[in-house]
Amino acid sequence: MAKLLIRGGHLIDPANGRDGRFDLLLERGKIADVQPAIPANGARVLDAANQLVVPGFVDLHTHLRQPGREDKETIESGCLAALRGGFTAVCAMPNTTPPTDHRGAVDFIHREAQRLGLAAVHPIGAITKDRQGKELTDFGELFGAGCIALSDDGHPVADAWLMRRALEYAKVFGRPLIQHAEEPRLAAGGVVHEGLVSTTLGLRGIPSEAESVLVSRDIALAELTGGWIHFAHLSCAQSVELIRQAKRRGARVTCEVTPHHLALTHEAVEAFNADAKVNPPLRTEPDRQALLEGLQDGTIDCIATDHAPHTEWEKAADFDSAPFGTSGLETALAVCVETLVAPGRLSWSRLIEKLSAAPAKLAGLAAGTLSVGAEANVTFIDPSARWTVDPQRFASKGKHSPFAGCTLTGAVVRTLYRGVG
Ligand code: DOR
Repeated sequence: MAKLLIRGGHLIDPANGRDGRFDLLLERGKIADVQPAIPANGARVLDAANQLVVPGFVDLHTHLRQPGREDKETIESGCLAALRGGFTAVCAMPNTTPPTDHRGAVDFIHREAQRLGLAAVHPIGAITKDRQGKELTDFGELFGAGCIALSDDGHPVADAWLMRRALEYAKVFGRPLIQHAEEPRLAAGGVVHEGLVSTTLGLRGIPSEAESVLVSRDIALAELTGGWIHFAHLSCAQSVELIRQAKRRGARVTCEVTPHHLALTHEAVEAFNADAKVNPPLRTEPDRQALLEGLQDGTIDCIATDHAPHTEWEKAADFDSAPFGTSGLETALAVCVETLVAPGRLSWSRLIEKLSAAPAKLAGLAAGTLSVGAEANVTFIDPSARWTVDPQRFASKGKHSPFAGCTLTGAVVRTLYRGVG
């Protein structure tokens, strides 16, 4: 593969503390040099003037739906959506059919991702067999096959005894359990946040406590066992405060937040907009502010999309029957720019860190960096481009977004995976 010189861009590489004008030389799919100015010496030159050049993003929370629901998404369409959004690595949640609860399922994802060669796909295995919350999977087999973490996402592990055993078991492997924190009895039948909007619309609500009760319990179990718990898609102020205090005590606790929970509140579901029906539900403005503060002060470790594509006919059903989830990979950056960078809540450098180096570290991946010798996974951003979200143009098969029709600032203009793209 010929040499490629990325010239004249503003490079942001939080893992190496770089934030300024640098050229980047790529060779054989790897980063060969980073300098303020690199002579071309026969390399093909890519002009990155007026662009940000950043590490390919890493998504810790992606639903790829294959095997089983290829009408919603495939590994191929999910990888193409990832690249459009600036992601060169996605961690695939196990709620497929069959679920990723055995070695064969992990091997299938690896093989298909390798065959495609579009982006890195890192499987997340299930904590319990068939994600039923009853019997633990074989953690040795799943981690041995290359899972970066385990989760029953979509469902919580509700049984406290089982969660204790799971944390003890996972501790041996030094990897996290990702909890979908939702106390099932408190959440039962709910479709939106329990509050003014649920009452006005006559919809069954899910109180914030459905999340915070389980966050509180699992922090206690992490402290009891010394195991590592990672909370998926935080949604409410109580959870942020519980995790803040737990981290101060030195508990092995990490967490993520989605762009939609940072940007929107439950008002987004007014008019029964199922595109904004997500689990956990969008909550109140004070909750949103708490999430923003948690991200700013480091309580929240990273941003993850919870990309959850569904078919148009499923999402078009009545609000109660429509599935939870939104297509998030292709809007993540711009939503974060509007919500975090434009109002001055996070610098560009910290945003890039929360989308690349931070999730890579949590996943235990040598990614999210532009270090010499690293894979040439590079995202190019036009920071001032304005564009209007049209889900019909998504590469994802999930053509639904609560941001449909919104004009956002900040666009991914190119993504290189292993130097290609
Ligand atoms: O909104 C969501 N959709 N939240 C989840 O936890 C699961 C996901 C899905 O798989 O559709």
